[in-house]
Amino acid sequence: MLEPVLQGLRAMSKPRESLQWNRHMEVPTKNEQYSDTPAGARPVAETDIRKIVVINGKGGCGKTTVATNLAAWYAAQGYHPALFDHDPQTSSMRWLKCRLPEMPRVHGVATQERQRPSVTRSWHLRIPSESRRIISDTPAGLAGLDIADHVQGAHCILIPVLPSAIDIEAGADFIRDLLLLGKIRRSGIQVGIVANRIKHNTLALQSLERFLDSLGIPVVARFRDTQAYVHAAEQGLGISELRSGRAARREAQEWDRLLQWVERVMEQTEVRQPPVGFGSRR
Ligand SMILES: Nc1ncnc2c1ncn2[C@@H]1O[C@H](COP(=O)(O)OP(=O)(O)O)[C@@H](O)[C@H]1O
Ligand SMILES: [Mg+2]
Repeated sequence: MLEPVLQGLRAMSKPRESLQWNRHMEVPTKNEQYSDTPAGARPVAETDIRKIVVINGKGGCGKTTVATNLAAWYAAQGYHPALFDHDPQTSSMRWLKCRLPEMPRVHGVATQERQRPSVTRSWHLRIPSESRRIISDTPAGLAGLDIADHVQGAHCILIPVLPSAIDIEAGADFIRDLLLLGKIRRSGIQVGIVANRIKHNTLALQSLERFLDSLGIPVVARFRDTQAYVHAAEQGLGISELRSGRAARREAQEWDRLLQWVERVMEQTEVRQPPVGFGSRR
C-alpha cells in the first residue's frame, strides 16, 4: 500500500538531470547529447570537438557556400558535423533540406527558428554525441559585440571575401573589428581568409593580399567563380560531391587544401574557455 507513495518520493528526491548548455562551444552537456550512431559507438569527448566559424559582415560573399561545403566535406570524412545556421534567412538549412538521405549525414541546427514551447532552448540546440566538428554559418550585418558573440569558443575562423574594391574595403573594416572585439590574437584563434569568386589574379585581389599580409592573416584558399557552386547548392551537395565537371574537380582540390589547413591549425588548439565578459545571446 505504502510502496507507490515511497516510489513517488524516491523519484522526487532524485537529482534532476542537468540542463546546462555549454554555450560558448555550442556543445551540449552529456545529458543533452543524443546519439544516432549504432549502439556501442563511443561518444566523442568534448575535448575532441572543434568549432569553425564562417563570418563576414557582408552578405553574398560566400559564408553559406563555405559553411555548407565544409559540412559536406566533414560528413564524407566521418566527422559527423553539426551545421549551425545563425542566419534568419536559414540558407544553410535550406541547403540541408535538399540533401538526399543517402548522402553522408550533416546534422543541422537552425538557431533562429522558432522553438516549440514544449522544447527547451538547449534541447533545440543539441547535437549528436558523435559530432566532432561544429560549423557555424553567420548572418550578414554583424558589427560590434555581435561579432565577439559569434566567434566565442571558435577554434578557427574563416572569412570569405569577394575580390572587388568595395568588398575588400568592407572586409578590411570587418577584420579590424574582429581582431579588436573578438580578442582573437589574445585567445590564439586562427583566422584564415577565403578569397571567393576570383576570376584571375586581379589588381583587387593583389591589394587584398597586401592588406592581409600587413596583418599577418593568411589567404588560405582561392575559389573560382563557377556555376558548379550553384549546381552543388541546389542539390544539397558540397562541390567535392559533384561527380562531374572539370571546374568542380579543380575546385575540389582547393577545398582539400583548405581543409588540410583547417585541420592542421586545429590540431594545435585546445578546447578554450570563453573570453570573460561576453554574454551569449545565441
Ligand atoms: N565561388 C562561387 N562561384 C559562383 N557562385 C558562388 C560562389 N560562391 C558563392 N556563390 C553564389 O553566390 C551566392 C551568395 O553566396 P552565399 O554563400 O549565399 O553568401 P552569404 O552566405 O555570404 O550571403 C549564392 O547564390 C552562391 O551559390
Ligand atoms: Mg548566408
